[in-house]
Amino acid sequence: MHYIRLLKSPTLSRSGKKFMLDLVFTITTDLGDSFLYPDEPIDVAIHAEISTDSESKKKDLFKLSLETTKLQWQSGMRVAKPSVDISRLMQQTLNSKNKISLCISTEKFSARTVSDILASTVVSEEEEQDGQIMPVWFTLNPDEAEVEVFTRRLYLPGTSEQEDYVEFEEEIGESIARHIWDAGVIAFCAIAESWMLPMPTDTEPSGLKALKKLFAGPKPINVLELGCGVGILGGGLSAVIPRMRPPPSRRCTILMTDLEEAESRTRSNMSRLLQARKSKSSNTPPVKLLYENLDWEEGRKGEFDFETQNHRWDLVMLSDCTYNVDMLPALVETLSALHTSNIAHAAASSSSSSEASSGEQSLSTKVFLATKPRHTSEEALFDLLSQEGWTELHSQTLPLPVLGAETQSVDLYLYEKLQ
Ligand SMILES: C[S@@+](CC[C@H](N)C(=O)[O-])C[C@H]1O[C@@H](n2cnc3c(N)ncnc32)[C@H](O)[C@@H]1O
Repeated sequence: MHYIRLLKSPTLSRSGKKFMLDLVFTITTDLGDSFLYPDEPIDVAIHAEISTDSESKKKDLFKLSLETTKLQWQSGMRVAKPSVDISRLMQQTLNSKNKISLCISTEKFSARTVSDILASTVVSEEEEQDGQIMPVWFTLNPDEAEVEVFTRRLYLPGTSEQEDYVEFEEEIGESIARHIWDAGVIAFCAIAESWMLPMPTDTEPSGLKALKKLFAGPKPINVLELGCGVGILGGGLSAVIPRMRPPPSRRCTILMTDLEEAESRTRSNMSRLLQARKSKSSNTPPVKLLYENLDWEEGRKGEFDFETQNHRWDLVMLSDCTYNVDMLPALVETLSALHTSNIAHAAASSSSSSEASSGEQSLSTKVFLATKPRHTSEEALFDLLSQEGWTELHSQTLPLPVLGAETQSVDLYLYEKLQ
């Protein structure tokens, strides 16, 4: 997948009554290591979306196309620097103080909805799937020209509501922890579609089915995410659980963890998700979304902070965390230390009737792992998991077409460790 990325904060300039917005963006892969190199030039459009409600609570939005000269991305390009005339928009914002969001997207191949993204991963003998390009969103703020973040929107499946999407901030600039990655996007989309648009059980991949079953029981469920980055998987899950069909009746706690450098961006995304949830009235069960730092170098020694230590984890999940082979031992040992902590919880609660849980769940730890294999050395992960007593229950490979390059893939695994 390719991603449109702002390389710097958009700059607003004024000349008389005319307002211009100067944009600098690129289109690269998740790692940022290769630019989009399409066979044919691809048209790029810039749209404005204006909230018509002054408090911005109602998502009553309409879209405007900006007047721009034709903007195209072609092979060999590394950066695009369009200037757009936003005079009409600025008048509307200044007069009404309504929020204006801008979106840079490609006319074709746009990865806009969960369903678009998943459709590109379907293996078809008749036609080759095209790769996709994820649009970028940012807010126009006339009072504060500097924008530090841009966002990704993923429109959820099975709803006609245009505004039903999850949105995650990324940071302008380069930081591994502060933007989204292919495996997280694909894993989130696969889960969202399987939970929101139930498919015939005989065609549903067994791993996703097992995952859904885990959430469907009556007891509260606790989920811990390792290396959450900006929170696409854990945060995305928290938005999808209330929309599961049929909705679960149980309470759910999701604890996202990462290194300290990821914390501020993840917390910011948690606030966005909370805000979005508040604007929707629902009788669905509560989902508690938490964040805590967890460095695998400490995790491998069983040194956990309060929240991590304080719960028994029914599911541990991670996406795109297995590319750095030097970190694999610490990561796998952290998984095992979490399992050990789970066993201690099970032992402590076996005498307490209020927290007693079914034997099967309390003595096993499940891990959902999504990875986009980047080099063969990463396969060391599977030996390490096996050596530590983790067993593969399910696996699924989703092809990931990439425009102008070789098809890649995202692998989804469900592992389990028994006492
Ligand atoms: C490629 S990013 C993936 C982020 C996110 N899971 C996603 O799919 O978008 C890898 C993540 O692992 C985290 N990470 C790397 N080393 C770590 C460590 N020693 N302890 C905890 N997290 C670590 C990074 O901070 C980063 O957020």
